[in-house]
Amino acid sequence: MSERVIPLVDQRIPTLSAPAAAFEPATRMAANGLLADRLGRPLRDLRISVTDRCNFRCNYCMPKETFDKDYPYLPHSALLSFEEITRVARLFAAHGVRKIRLTGGEPLLRKNIEILIKQLAALRTVDGEPLDLTLTTNGSLLTRKAQALKDAGLRRITVSLDGLDDAVFRRMNDVDFPVADVLAGIEAAKAAGLGPIKINMVVKRGTNEHEILPMVRHFKGSGMVLRFIEYMDVGATNGWRMDEVLPSSEVVKLIQTEMPLIQLEPSAPGETAERWGFADAEGRHDVAAGEIGVISSVTHAFCGDCNRARLSTEGRLYLCLFATQGHDLRSLIRGEASDADIISAIGHIWGARDDRYSEQRAAQPPDTGHPSQRRVEMSYIGG
Ligand code: GTP
Ligand code: 5AD
Ligand code: SF4
Ligand code: SF4
Repeated sequence: MSERVIPLVDQRIPTLSAPAAAFEPATRMAANGLLADRLGRPLRDLRISVTDRCNFRCNYCMPKETFDKDYPYLPHSALLSFEEITRVARLFAAHGVRKIRLTGGEPLLRKNIEILIKQLAALRTVDGEPLDLTLTTNGSLLTRKAQALKDAGLRRITVSLDGLDDAVFRRMNDVDFPVADVLAGIEAAKAAGLGPIKINMVVKRGTNEHEILPMVRHFKGSGMVLRFIEYMDVGATNGWRMDEVLPSSEVVKLIQTEMPLIQLEPSAPGETAERWGFADAEGRHDVAAGEIGVISSVTHAFCGDCNRARLSTEGRLYLCLFATQGHDLRSLIRGEASDADIISAIGHIWGARDDRYSEQRAAQPPDTGHPSQRRVEMSYIGG
């Protein structure tokens, strides 16, 4: 057996010993689907991380230097079970959640994920509709799993893909994974009817910006929506630098040199992506050619109507992607708490929320590296 190094500082989330307590306030709050935070933002989107592991080591998310063989991943007993996830998701739906996104790490690494999907697919919104049930994946296991995911009730899928050039892609995933296998996975998802498919490309200046135009050419007219994401200062391990961010405005400008675009209306309030449609010769949206999106969390923050909550793999509720602390729901779920108790706790936690990190980024004090200031990793709470 290899010797296990126990790090002095928990690299995963140094506040582990002291998570924000899931308080049980004196005033009980029921769910009426109208919950709003202190800035008036509703709760509509729950992103659930089902594993903190991934088979890729994208440098902007799980750099190899930190996420090595000694990294303290969560033990299986710490993870919420499918029953626990489904219970808590049902209570979030009662508060007005309409969309559930499964994330990771890489969610398809969680064993029997189809069973969880089946359970979640049976839930209903406050209006009695099925939830918009989706999943973000790196695509590496999709050829094998796409049909089973569809059969279990998954509606659509988002695949991360940072370039088409095999050498660039292998370098970015940092495990030498071939791009052809992800492209085959995307085709399998399409064939299984998991649409509309979205493709997320994180753009790092100096690393993959020359892949922007080939990606646009490839996905134009495919029915899939390619979105460019500004490289973010999320987590505490990726060594983020502003000069590696390529602003979305430059991405749009670059695409326009070859393919004219026109800006489209948002399709839903609180949306992360700004939409741009391919224009026809008359300057109108060419619907058959489709659209692209840009997600500009660094240069054009979208906190104003952020309706997203994140549930970590071990059941902590995070109110912002850039939070340093989560609220421990697992102790309630595994304790004596009734559904009404948990509904009340969620209501109070969301009601007290005033997070808007991206909007305040410039005004943040510099990160001193102190554990209490350390932001949670994206692989732990999901994108
Ligand atoms: P759709 O419903 O399919 O449009 O999904 P979405 O855009 O809400 O979610 P997706 O997970 O595809 O988000 C794409 C990327 O946007 C993520 O990988 C993050 O990089 C970024 N992102 C998503 N949500 C947030 C957020 O709340 N804050 C910030 N700063 N970035 C976010
Ligand atoms: N910046 C922007 N997006 C990121 N993701 C992970 N880390 C970052 C980062 N530093 C997002 C990507 C990926 C998803 C799983 O998480 O969109 O597709
Ligand atoms: Fe894995 Fe996605 Fe993070 Fe890459 S971005 S390391 S694929 S979770
Ligand atoms: Fe929402 Fe926080 Fe992202 Fe702003 S930075 S959009 S508040 S998750």
